[in-house]
Amino acid sequence: MYNIAMIGAGRRVAPLAKQLIQSDDFQLTAICDTDVELAQKRFAEIENVNYYQDAKEMLEKEKLDGVFIGTRCSTHTQYALLVGEYGIPMFLEKPVCTKEEDLEKLQTLLPMNHKVVVSFPLRMCRMTQCVKEIIDSGRIGKIEHIQAYNNVNYARGYYHKWYRDEEETGGLLLQKATHDFDYINYLLGDNKPMRVCAIKSKQIFKGDMPEGLRCKDCEKRETCPEGVNNINIIEGDPYEIKDFCCFAKDTGNEDSSSAIILYESGMHVAYSQDFIVRRGAGKRGARLISYDATLEFDFNTGEIKIYYHNEDRIETCHIGTSGMHFGGDDLLVKNFADVVRGKDVSYTDLVSGILSAKMCLMAKKSAERFLFCDI
Ligand SMILES: NC(=O)c1ccc[n+]([C@@H]2O[C@H](COP(=O)([O-])OP(=O)(O)OC[C@H]3O[C@@H](n4cnc5c(N)ncnc54)[C@H](O)[C@@H]3O)[C@@H](O)[C@H]2O)c1
Repeated sequence: MYNIAMIGAGRRVAPLAKQLIQSDDFQLTAICDTDVELAQKRFAEIENVNYYQDAKEMLEKEKLDGVFIGTRCSTHTQYALLVGEYGIPMFLEKPVCTKEEDLEKLQTLLPMNHKVVVSFPLRMCRMTQCVKEIIDSGRIGKIEHIQAYNNVNYARGYYHKWYRDEEETGGLLLQKATHDFDYINYLLGDNKPMRVCAIKSKQIFKGDMPEGLRCKDCEKRETCPEGVNNINIIEGDPYEIKDFCCFAKDTGNEDSSSAIILYESGMHVAYSQDFIVRRGAGKRGARLISYDATLEFDFNTGEIKIYYHNEDRIETCHIGTSGMHFGGDDLLVKNFADVVRGKDVSYTDLVSGILSAKMCLMAKKSAERFLFCDI
């Protein structure tokens, strides 16, 4: 039996850990969370779990084979380093860090590179795997340009929930783009990102409402277009606060940002994300352009289209997108299980996590200082 523990048993990783222990050879033996009471509620149905508030104490006392690190963003690095001291395989939430100085610290974990599964479901999902297969087959030639986009139609949580605290998340270039930069790097293979420039804007979700205000205490709650009773917020966890004011002085996060990334071969990627669109306007995917063809795909619709430039031919195929994160979460958990069993290496390793975080941090720096930044 493999013994699994969690550090930070929150909304994101709780279902993943529960999925892992569906396998007969895994059991959840310990949870460390600063809010033990809440963690106990979340895992009430699972017996024989030891609860801790101190991760070091847990690592000392328990005999563990794998650890999920699912705390909020700013503490990922510190816990990765701690679990690394014990040489235990880990499932590490993204972004792997939120500060430049943490990039350095994470380098010391590189001997464990293949035992770290970074939580990048987008890279793992069937859509990305299929696009990668097409590129690697040589059918569409060498990719010379990419236009990638993420129009996030479920973005209210970034202004209404704890994610509005930029100090915690590092902003949306880290929070969101880390996934997209990673799948783009994956598709481009050996072609490495070299430089980035970026711009971010905050046009909508800002204002002068009081700091810390919540809809439940606000006199405008019935008329405000973003009042939680007037909008279709918010899926998810009953324990989360979901009604912070998105027009307050302390509402963090840009509502759109764009980056241009130069790769080693001289080609570049243009990536743009926004958090304003809603409903059917959601779109996430890219156009990959070679001399011979344009391949366009959208994670939301599951459609891949290849337009051949030199013949009168368009190919379309549909990929199943069922499951969380287009099916990527199932494959991440399966990979983590095999890493713990010692049967496989991580497909979303620490090197990819660090590279993507570095691109995000440099993009953020570029946007804040109007600079081109080396990656
Ligand atoms: N990979 C993905 O697709 C994806 C999707 C959503 C969220 N995330 C990431 O998952 C992380 C967690 O997000 P969430 O929505 O689950 O948040 P959450 O608040 O629901 O969960 C965090 C948990 O960590 C606990 N915690 C906080 N500080 C701690 C500490 N110092 N030590 C131990 N426990 C601590 C909290 O009590 C909470 O239970 C974030 O970093 C987020 O960016 C990733």
